This record gives sequence, structure tokens and C-alpha cells, in this order.
Amino acid sequence: MKIPKLLQAVLVLIGVYLGFILVFDVLLDAVIPSSVLAMYMFFVAAGVFMVFTFEEDGTRELVAPIKALVEEPSRRLIRNIVFVVVPVLAGAGTYFQMVPSLDAPVELRSIHPAPPTAIKVYGKRVNLLKLENPYRKFEKEDPEKFKELVAGGAKVYIQNCQYCHGDKLDGKGPYAAGLNPTPLNFQDVGTIAQLQESYLFWRIATGGPGLPKEAAPWISSMPVWQNFLSEEEIWQVILFLYDYTGRRPRSWEHDG
Ligand code: HEC
Repeated sequence: MKIPKLLQAVLVLIGVYLGFILVFDVLLDAVIPSSVLAMYMFFVAAGVFMVFTFEEDGTRELVAPIKALVEEPSRRLIRNIVFVVVPVLAGAGTYFQMVPSLDAPVELRSIHPAPPTAIKVYGKRVNLLKLENPYRKFEKEDPEKFKELVAGGAKVYIQNCQYCHGDKLDGKGPYAAGLNPTPLNFQDVGTIAQLQESYLFWRIATGGPGLPKEAAPWISSMPVWQNFLSEEEIWQVILFLYDYTGRRPRSWEHDG
């Protein structure tokens, strides 16, 4: 029995495709990017088409099944099925390729990655282990001054942060719904209450781009505030975050 030309061509293409996968994936243990594979297959298909249509008879034989499908009255049912199924499959394929995924990546993202020991902010190297909020001491020493500093922090917050983190610091700012990962809720026990002020300073000053690899692959929209705020403003806004939520920053001496 002779294999129809069209089927031959399809078999050659499938064979070459499997060959590529076999050689690269199994023998060389390398993955071919799908775009490169698509390019190879395009050239292979063009080559196969040229060989199979080299002679007029061959061309006729190649397109015969397609011609029959389109023209022969007896094939009407199959024709109608093919003409519905193929466009639907093509449409569905395109749709699923284009539709953006809103699911969290499979890898678990670390929300509070371990900070680096030293960071570079405001053009200088800072040791995070030793960094402290220079204003924290006024809480005991000069409560009046402390109140002013907190009020300064509140102003910084309302002007810069509430769009994302919310005017109640609950992570529900007007922009929050459009962001993934979502802005953090500072009222939650799982955020600033667990952290040291130096950690917050690091996160606020360097933002999403300052996150280490463990926090990937999600793209954080948290801005790099050292570009917009002074060091003093960052320390003040940190005072405000703790003051408003009634949480205590974690410290080295008495953890909790
Ligand atoms: C454009 C939106 C946006 C703005 C504006 C913004 N943030 Fe964020 N922030 C985020 C997102 C999203 C996250 C969570 C992802 C991450 O950790 O980077 C985050 C995380 C944080 C964290 C880390 C908290 C934790 O538990 O690790 C702190 C602290 C923080 N923001 C403080 C601020 C402060 C202070 C401001 C204003 C000066 C601010 N943010 C403004 C989007 C924003």
C-alpha cells in the first residue's frame, strides 16, 4: 500500500521534530528554546514543501486529499467538521497563549527574605546589623520631639505611601488592586511587627529592585525611596508606621 503524499510530508515533519527533541533534549541534555525550534521547523517545512512539489505530478498528489476534502460532495460532513474544529482550535490556542496568568508562580516567594548584612544607600555603605533608627531614643528622652517626628512621618506617608499601602496602613490603597504582589498590610502581625527598623529602612530605601533573589520571581512595585526621600524622612515614616499600628519594632536585645 502506498502512503499518500500528504501523509508522507506530515510524517517527515513529525520525524524531524522528534529528532530535534531527541538530539537536544535526550542526547545533549540541552533544552531548545521553543522560538528556535519553531524557526527550525519553519525551514524544515519549507524544505519539505519544495521537495514534495518539485514535480507537477507530485504537487497534484500532495494536494489531492485537501482538494477532495474541499470539493467532493460526499465529504460534506467531514468538511463541515474540519472547518469548524480547525478554526476553533486555532482560536483557543491563540487565546491560551496570549491570556496573562494571574496565578502566583509555583515557587514560593519569600515575603521577608533575609536582608544583606551591608547595603549601599545614599551613596554610602551601611552595615544593617548595626543600623538603628536615630530618632527612636526620643520616645523616652523627649516625648514632645518624638511626637513631632511621628507627625513628620505621617506627612511623608500620606504624600507617598498611602496610594498603595492604604490610608489605614492595611495594604488597601487605591492602587493596590492592580498590583501583584500586593502592597503589604502593616496592621498584620506578619509584617512590620516581626521586623527590625533597620530591615524596614533597607526595604524602603531600596524598594522592589533591592530585593535579593529569593524574593523573585515576583516583580515588586515598591519604589526605591532613596531616590525621592531623605534618610531623615525614611526614619520618620518608620516611626509613624509603628506608632499608628501600635506595634513595636523588633530589636536585638529583647526579641518579641
Ligand atoms: C507603588 C506602590 C507602593 C508605594 C507607593 C509604596 N509601596 Fe511599599 N510596598 C509595595 C509593595 C507591592 C510591597 C510588597 C512587595 C515587597 O515586599 O517589595 C511593599 C512593601 C513594603 C515594605 C516591606 C514590608 C515587609 O513586611 O517586608 C515596606 C516597609 C514598605 N513597603 C514601606 C513603604 C513606605 C514607607 C512607602 C512610602 C514612602 C511605600 N512603601 C510606598 C508597594 C508600594
